Amino acid sequence: MNPPAAPHADAPMPPVAEPLLHIDGLHLWMRSFEGEAHVLAGVDLRVQRGEVWGLVGETGCGKSLTGLSVSRLVATPPGRYGQGRIVFDGQDLLRLDEAQVRPLRGRRIGMIFQDPTTNLNPLFRIGEQLVDVALAAGAHSPEILGLAPGASRGERRAAARELAARMLERVRIPDARARLDDHPHQFSGGMRQRVLIAMALIGRPDLLIADEPTTALDVSVQAQILALLKDMVAEYRMAVLLITHNLGVVAQTCSHVAVMYAGTIVERGPVRAVLSAPRHPYTRALLKALPTRATARGTLEGIPGVVPDLVRPPAGCRYAPRCARASEGCLRTAPELASAAGAHEVACYHPHSLASA
Ligand SMILES: Nc1ncnc2c1ncn2[C@@H]1O[C@H](COP(=O)(O)OP(=O)(O)O)[C@@H](O)[C@H]1O
Ligand SMILES: [Mg+2]
Repeated sequence: MNPPAAPHADAPMPPVAEPLLHIDGLHLWMRSFEGEAHVLAGVDLRVQRGEVWGLVGETGCGKSLTGLSVSRLVATPPGRYGQGRIVFDGQDLLRLDEAQVRPLRGRRIGMIFQDPTTNLNPLFRIGEQLVDVALAAGAHSPEILGLAPGASRGERRAAARELAARMLERVRIPDARARLDDHPHQFSGGMRQRVLIAMALIGRPDLLIADEPTTALDVSVQAQILALLKDMVAEYRMAVLLITHNLGVVAQTCSHVAVMYAGTIVERGPVRAVLSAPRHPYTRALLKALPTRATARGTLEGIPGVVPDLVRPPAGCRYAPRCARASEGCLRTAPELASAAGAHEVACYHPHSLASA
């Protein structure tokens, strides 16, 4: 028998731990007036605990539908899933029925969406709504309330109210304790959004899906909320999918970034690598398109050209019709994500080289 091979410089890397979330080649069609639009075309993303992934791209590229898919909030119809899986902690979420999804949603998978008016119940006090979430989380994970098992109902309520007040303080609601007894209409839109952020974080979800969570907030509160998010990731090893069109937010908050174009991930990897040396022509265009006035805010303004019709999408690379580097092959077959440098991956037959960075 041969002796085992000696370790070698090009030996394969040890396998990476199974990610908490693996969106594995996900396809989604949405029915519309013009026909069925192929809105997610093989979206692939792996998110480990402790990672904050930014998902960026122009309006309409499929960021929200990706987040809503993980939360299993895309109605079918009008949606229809094709190939692909959404594996969360070893389970394919797409195979679960609503009764199996409900205990995951909100508890293990927290969500913050853009529009704060839709998510708070106008009839109940802010404090009651937070306490309900804290009690539900505490029933499942008693350590969240900091109580020993067997604590009385009154002790649990008091601990939940205390936790609610502390979370409101952490999202910078002034005079938080007194404001627990207010109703949502007594809060401004920005404050309601902060309440929803507190509500999503109070149960310490394993995964947080945040779709433009701070877009409605002013810059200083936004910075505080993003700092809180980073603290929570460090404290609880949470994983985050942060959907944003703001590259400043990505640079400030994310460990990784994925760039979407027309329902596909065109580039992904560690945030520094992707932002400092983008390889995909689309990522380049996106970063270059930042108009000077908006650069400070890091806002994506979009780039010239027309996003493809997703009812009749291009056969090959979806960016090819807009791409100065496209060749015949690009129009025929879509490129797959492949490593450009370590974990920095790009789906392009003609990526920019590091030298031209
Ligand atoms: N409920 C829906 N019915 C039909 N088409 C939809 C629906 N929601 C989104 N879409 C389409 O899917 C595409 C992706 O949308 P979305 O995920 O909201 O993009 P983003 O969040 O990146 O702006 C867009 O072309 C949009 O028009
Ligand atoms: Mg969106």
